[in-house]
Amino acid sequence: MCGIFAYLNWLVPKTRKEIIEILVKGLQRQEYRGYDSAGIGIEGSNSIDDPYMMTLIKMPGKVKALEDEIQRNAGQLDFSRVFDLHVGIAHTRWATHGAPSVVNCHPQRSDTNNEFIVVHNGIITNYKEVKVYLEKKNCVFESETDTEVISKLVKYYYDRHQNMSFRQLVEHVIQQLEGAFSLVFMSSHYPGELVASRRGSPLIVGIKTKVKLASDHIPVMYSKGLEGVHVDSDDKVRRGSSFNPDRQSLVSISEVPATPYVNDNITQVTTLEGHEVEYFLASDASALIEHTNQMIYLEDDDVAAVSGGSLTIHRHTSMKKKDQFATREIQTVMMEMKQIMKGCYSSFMQKEIFEQPESVVNTMRGRLIPKDGTVVLGGLKEHITEIRRCRRLIFIACGTSYHSALATRQLLEELTELPVMVELASDFLDRNTPVFRDDVCFFISQSGETADTLMALRYCKRQGALAVGITNTVGSSISRETHCGIHINAGPEIGVASTKAYTSQIISLVMFGLMICEDRISLQPRRQEIIEALGELPDQIREVLKTDERVKVLAEELYDKKSLLIMGRGFNFATCLEGALKIKELTYMHSEGILAGELKHGPLALVDSNMPLMMVITRDQVYSKCMNALLQVTARGGRPIIILEKDDDETKKHVEKMRYIEVPHTVDCLSSILTTIPLQLLSYHIAVLKKCDVDCPRNLAKSVTVE
Ligand code: F6R
Repeated sequence: MCGIFAYLNWLVPKTRKEIIEILVKGLQRQEYRGYDSAGIGIEGSNSIDDPYMMTLIKMPGKVKALEDEIQRNAGQLDFSRVFDLHVGIAHTRWATHGAPSVVNCHPQRSDTNNEFIVVHNGIITNYKEVKVYLEKKNCVFESETDTEVISKLVKYYYDRHQNMSFRQLVEHVIQQLEGAFSLVFMSSHYPGELVASRRGSPLIVGIKTKVKLASDHIPVMYSKGLEGVHVDSDDKVRRGSSFNPDRQSLVSISEVPATPYVNDNITQVTTLEGHEVEYFLASDASALIEHTNQMIYLEDDDVAAVSGGSLTIHRHTSMKKKDQFATREIQTVMMEMKQIMKGCYSSFMQKEIFEQPESVVNTMRGRLIPKDGTVVLGGLKEHITEIRRCRRLIFIACGTSYHSALATRQLLEELTELPVMVELASDFLDRNTPVFRDDVCFFISQSGETADTLMALRYCKRQGALAVGITNTVGSSISRETHCGIHINAGPEIGVASTKAYTSQIISLVMFGLMICEDRISLQPRRQEIIEALGELPDQIREVLKTDERVKVLAEELYDKKSLLIMGRGFNFATCLEGALKIKELTYMHSEGILAGELKHGPLALVDSNMPLMMVITRDQVYSKCMNALLQVTARGGRPIIILEKDDDETKKHVEKMRYIEVPHTVDCLSSILTTIPLQLLSYHIAVLKKCDVDCPRNLAKSVTVE
């Protein structure tokens, strides 16, 4: 996740200083979306040769570092100069491709003259193909980002078709992109203009004007493009993923006719050219609300262009049939800023729990190709043969990240047929655990900075083992110091208690398992079953989130209790440990995850009619054993609340009315994702009822950088 902000003033005089302040404030409001680097691009330079050349200022670190850098450049920026029309774009980054550095910061540029610059939120999954194509056409890349292909591609079109409008160029560009994006472009060839588009990532236009807007709906115009394009058969480029099968192949790039767009229905969209107006673009309404409450939420594949003070929204003709409403509403957003930052959620943790249908898609995006059962984890490709030949797989992590390894251990044993060890980093170090050159050690960490995990990584490297990182933070110490790895792409997690990173870690580990056994014929039916289930997961998570109200009622029953035991086994044992950890850290209540198979070896003594209990039961290989545990508990007067599968009428017979939470059925190895979410919700609701600080539990920090 990254934050985008853009600004354009039309007949509203502003000093350069004011314009820069607006851009920087826009980033500060969205810093929660990413904070490893930030940058701005503004029109104009002090170059006598090219006064239209754009100025870029970029810095690794938080927005504050960018602000300091701007101050250092103040002398050259001509802060007091007044502009009636000026354009600027800005970005705060959460790295996905390429570590945080000046060259990887956005805006990304087309060339050293900064002719076209772009800011991007999302992931371009076919960027490698586009890059290879452009390199063949002599484009020289400077960054490691996926975004740079976009700035290069727009210039590539411009150089061949200079009579196209800026909007038309962008319309061509987005047809070549796969993955998710929101984009804002500016160019020294089109001064005073902004063009933006989105697909899968949010982008909102804010309009500030004293004029009453002619209509509260902006009509969408349709553009035809790339029609009758001749395909050059020598120039075939491989399709990267199946996410957008209708995409025109890159083979057509060089063949685009000079004026390929025909506008049907051109109408004047807004009639503001003669009036003062300011346009803002942002990833999140929180960055707009202090300027205006008049907002347009762009839809996927919209291309919004501001030129001559007017805004137009275009779409490709192929979208026409799919559009129910060929207008975009100018909404009056009546919200306070604090609310908007977290959307309709009361805390970042709650927001992150509800983001999981999207975050799991982001983890899988471009990596899982259900059609042919392929799993491509680019970061492991070069080492996969070495991993297949290793002696053992050792997974090392702390807290929630450790639980993600426990949740997948059984599957990894099954798919890799290798010994799999799962280790708590601190204990692993305390034991000076023997590690060998032919071991492969995985270091799982949301932050990528946890000291114990990092120490374990250095220790394993000293023993000569291959080190694989699984992190959510590009450029973090663990991602830099490992030999290879997987970035889980869950987006920034602000709440101290880990939620969406956990489910994305599990999915990353499952994908690793699928990749390693790709050519094992006997495992193909199992692989296929898991791949299909992964495809259904986002909707199933949505369904689980609908249990929120029910979970809240159960929280009311539990919140004043002293203790809560959570029992389960098999794939769901990790859910019990993770649920208990969430309850402890958020509510300060004692909670314990118990392996149901261990009940009779001690914990059963705790069970009576007063002890708060939960059980997790799904219909997998250990179902009948879980049922035995349930009967043992109820026979002692226990009244467990059960997380069970929809339609499991057998288990329901043993539960009191309404004392269960239903989740959809999925393949055994993914059930822990669905069963954990009700416990995330439960810990959240208990914390709220107990008036605990949900996002910042006492005594804890998001990133534990001390041993
Ligand atoms: C619990 C939680 C912690 C972290 C642990 C490791 O909700 O967030 O247990 O999982 O501190 O942190 P990372 O994953 O950043 O290494």
